Amino acid sequence: MRGRRLFLSALGLLGALTLWRLASQRSPVTPAEETEQVRRFYDRIATRYDRGIRLGEWVLFKEGRRWAAAQARGETLEIGIGTGRNLPYYPAEVRLTGIDVSPAMLELARERARQLNRPVELRAGDAQALDFPAASFDTVVSTLSLCTIPDPAQAVREAARVLRPGGRLILLEHVRSPLLPVRVIQRLLEPITVRLEHDHLLREPLEYVEAAGLVVEQLERSRLGLVERLVARKPE
Ligand SMILES: C[S@@+](CC[C@H](N)C(=O)[O-])C[C@H]1O[C@@H](n2cnc3c(N)ncnc32)[C@H](O)[C@@H]1O
Repeated sequence: MRGRRLFLSALGLLGALTLWRLASQRSPVTPAEETEQVRRFYDRIATRYDRGIRLGEWVLFKEGRRWAAAQARGETLEIGIGTGRNLPYYPAEVRLTGIDVSPAMLELARERARQLNRPVELRAGDAQALDFPAASFDTVVSTLSLCTIPDPAQAVREAARVLRPGGRLILLEHVRSPLLPVRVIQRLLEPITVRLEHDHLLREPLEYVEAAGLVVEQLERSRLGLVERLVARKPE
């Protein structure tokens, strides 16, 4: 009996390891191909996005959206705006532009803006190659987007480029935890979340922000180090 249970446990472990290895093996794709895969994924799940994120958002990002949007001043760009879940929290005087790679997500953001009577310019676009001149925004906001953008360092460089000197980048992101046991779990889960949802768990936006020459003004970690709130300024 005991031998049978051991055999079944070993079989289960082997099965789990095989699944994990399969999920870890990704055939190489170019950034452009990966961006296209992300677009297709979000186009496909757009109508389920709001329902799907509600619980995780409540556990991890409570008040985070309000915090992020409330920092915005003047001409503001939100990258990866998705279905526009931050729209209710922007100050009324902010002139808002939102871009996203997924037209289906943007359509829902458009509907939300209509319901809220919130003026916003929404356009399809790639955060890794922004279609705006340098120094055209006072604020750039990203919430939960750098985890899915294929080249997040390039997206942050682009954010820095379109910011005016003195302008600020506001981030609310889930990131790599500094706590080893949590990080081990993230490492185990990441091949699966990347494969299923293009969601990277081990990214560290602070690295891209500093490399882009922005000066960090505020950095807060919470929820076992999984959630980061970051404000960085472009030097004058
Ligand atoms: C996890 S969702 C977050 C949506 C929204 N920011 C929020 O807080 O609910 C990630 C979003 O980033 C968008 N995205 C991914 N890669 C992008 C890219 N290269 N350029 C612009 N948007 C992108 C996706 O289409 C999706 O809407």
